[in-house]
Amino acid sequence: MIPFNNLNPIYDMLRDEMNEAVQRVLRSGWYILGPEVEAFEAEFAAYHGGGYTVSVANGTDAIELALKAYDIGRGDEVITVSHTAQPTVNAIEQTGATPVLVEVLEDTYTISPAAVEAAITPQTKAIIPVHLYGQTADMTALKQLADKHSLILVEDCAQSHGAKHHGALAGTMGHIAAFSFYPTKNLGAFGDGGAIFTHDANIAARLKRLRNYGQASTYHYVEKGVNSRLDEMQAAILRVRLAHLDEHNTNRQAIAQIYNTALEGVTRPYTAPNHEHVYHLYVIRYPHRDKLMQQLQEQGISTKIHYPAPVHLQQPHIDTFGTTDLPLTKRITEEIVSLPLYIGMKSQDAETVADAVNRIVAGLAQA
Ligand SMILES: Cc1ncc(COP(=O)(O)O)c(C=O)c1O
Repeated sequence: MIPFNNLNPIYDMLRDEMNEAVQRVLRSGWYILGPEVEAFEAEFAAYHGGGYTVSVANGTDAIELALKAYDIGRGDEVITVSHTAQPTVNAIEQTGATPVLVEVLEDTYTISPAAVEAAITPQTKAIIPVHLYGQTADMTALKQLADKHSLILVEDCAQSHGAKHHGALAGTMGHIAAFSFYPTKNLGAFGDGGAIFTHDANIAARLKRLRNYGQASTYHYVEKGVNSRLDEMQAAILRVRLAHLDEHNTNRQAIAQIYNTALEGVTRPYTAPNHEHVYHLYVIRYPHRDKLMQQLQEQGISTKIHYPAPVHLQQPHIDTFGTTDLPLTKRITEEIVSLPLYIGMKSQDAETVADAVNRIVAGLAQA
């Protein structure tokens, strides 16, 4: 049996450091917004070459608060993709702004800069590129567009911790960036978590208020905020994991390389020039995707689809996006499948998966 994902190797590899971190918090008597959160925020900012990190409760809140920090809300339009996890769009809606969903590029599955440009109206305030599967969107083109039209560029980095574009880390290229630390992410907590990264000290200061009921200091409220905080336990765990992020991304890249070399007859992930892919997910494309998944499952190999339907065709959004027509996005979601890939996965298991895919695909070609 080869699972789609397995988080146990992470704890096995980092057991002593994790246990020490958790014990440290338990003994400290301080569990919310304390020294671990402060240290993690400083270390996460340093990883990104300096700037400010404001940790929050999850990645969805990170997007919502990033938009709110720029006063984006009712009456404003925010352009993003439909080919993403639903929370990207939910977060926009939570601010009161209107999401405008556009097409992706056929090769990388990330937002199409041309489609963004075509969707800009006088109400447009922001663009949210989703750095999907571990590769950033074309930030060079998007930055030009954002500059030309005075738009805020919010990077959705939930799937791209450590990815690079022209050597710049995901999260450092836009005005502001939102990260998720959901346990399966490249940088995952052992619970929920998220963060916002920015180079702007004033925005960071506002975000610190917004995440904590709008408090400027204890019980002095200057605006309406929310309760969205990372706890000390998760911050301590994330500090351990951050120190191993690059090494763990290399581990993911090595598994992806086995797939890249071995797979035949399917569309492998495309890494655009000047991008470093960190393979949050290894997503292939194949016209008979459902048959492939079923036959892999019969051989004990689990796969998943990210995502089985685009946001505008998922039940909660069908009415809202009734007229949205994104044929490429729709076709991609009908053909993609994610293969097993996780930190600590054995090379031999990746070879077994690749062999199985190749044999099934060859068989289906003859059928
Ligand atoms: C692209 C993307 N954006 C946002 C989120 C939301 O993150 P969280 O689950 O931490 O709220 C996720 C996670 O599922 C995601 O994959």
